[in-house]
Amino acid sequence: MTAATPSRPIAIITGASSGIGEEFARQLAARGHDLVLVARRRDRLEALRERLEVVHGVQCVSIEVDLARAAERDRLCDLLAADEDRVTVLVNNAGFGTHGFFRETDLSRELEMIEVNCAAPVHLTKRVLPWMLERRRGHVINVASLSAFTPGPVMAMYFATKAFLLSFSEALWEECRDTGVVVTALCPGPVRTEFQQMAGLSSKARTSGTAPVRVEQVVSDALEGAMDGKRVVIPGYQARLAAMMSRFSPRGRMLRTVRKIQEERRRQSRGI
Ligand SMILES: NC(=O)c1ccc[n+]([C@@H]2O[C@H](COP(=O)([O-])OP(=O)(O)OC[C@H]3O[C@@H](n4cnc5c(N)ncnc54)[C@H](OP(=O)(O)O)[C@@H]3O)[C@@H](O)[C@H]2O)c1
Repeated sequence: MTAATPSRPIAIITGASSGIGEEFARQLAARGHDLVLVARRRDRLEALRERLEVVHGVQCVSIEVDLARAAERDRLCDLLAADEDRVTVLVNNAGFGTHGFFRETDLSRELEMIEVNCAAPVHLTKRVLPWMLERRRGHVINVASLSAFTPGPVMAMYFATKAFLLSFSEALWEECRDTGVVVTALCPGPVRTEFQQMAGLSSKARTSGTAPVRVEQVVSDALEGAMDGKRVVIPGYQARLAAMMSRFSPRGRMLRTVRKIQEERRRQSRGI
């Protein structure tokens, strides 16, 4: 990917095979970035790579990686190092959720979620951030969630992973102040993607809290916010209001409200 276009910036996008990550790929290609597309489903990545190369005339590579595995994350970073001087954007987007009471969910799936939602962004940022700092230029976008702002009964581990990612991102944003590098946490409310199905929720289940925001809007808000140096981007008015209210509402009341919503989703998914 090196010789033909030495000056074009490279954006790395994890979870590019679907949903929000796929849209990041489209919009970053439209902005003239060469892309590194990362996920496990190679067929999907390859189809996207071919489309984006034709439509936008950029160069893309797709790399099949299971981000739950530290050795595979290292292999990915070793490959990226060949073009480190062009790596300008890292989007840590890959992630999934599990739904249900903690006493019911599968431990190995929860531990895998911690690897993908938390360890992978830490690992990739650890390797990529120094390249950006060296050139005093770059953006890291961590895809957290509106769920990051409250604990989430009946989806406890997912909410906790996103709270981790938000805290990590905000701290790095401050550490990177005046370095030319910006770390932004993207905190969307519901977005219609494969996420719900992957979490074991039926398409009939209501979305949590706020109205869904279109994936195109989520990503354009994220990119504009990141380019403006924002620490946190929350697409959609309702979601911004919900995030603000979560700061001021009594914790006990918040917990009961979230539990009620998530229990309803659980019932709707089970058809009861
Ligand atoms: N949709 C929402 O309502 C919503 C709201 C707030 C935040 N988010 C966050 O947005 C991000 C993207 O989710 P989405 O809504 O776009 O869901 P999605 O359509 O299910 O996409 C998830 C992506 O993550 C990748 N992924 C999952 N496990 C992986 C692994 N072990 N290794 C590599 N890649 C993996 C998947 O690729 P492969 O399966 O091909 O590996 C897929 O590309 C997630 O972090 C999610 O938590 C979503």
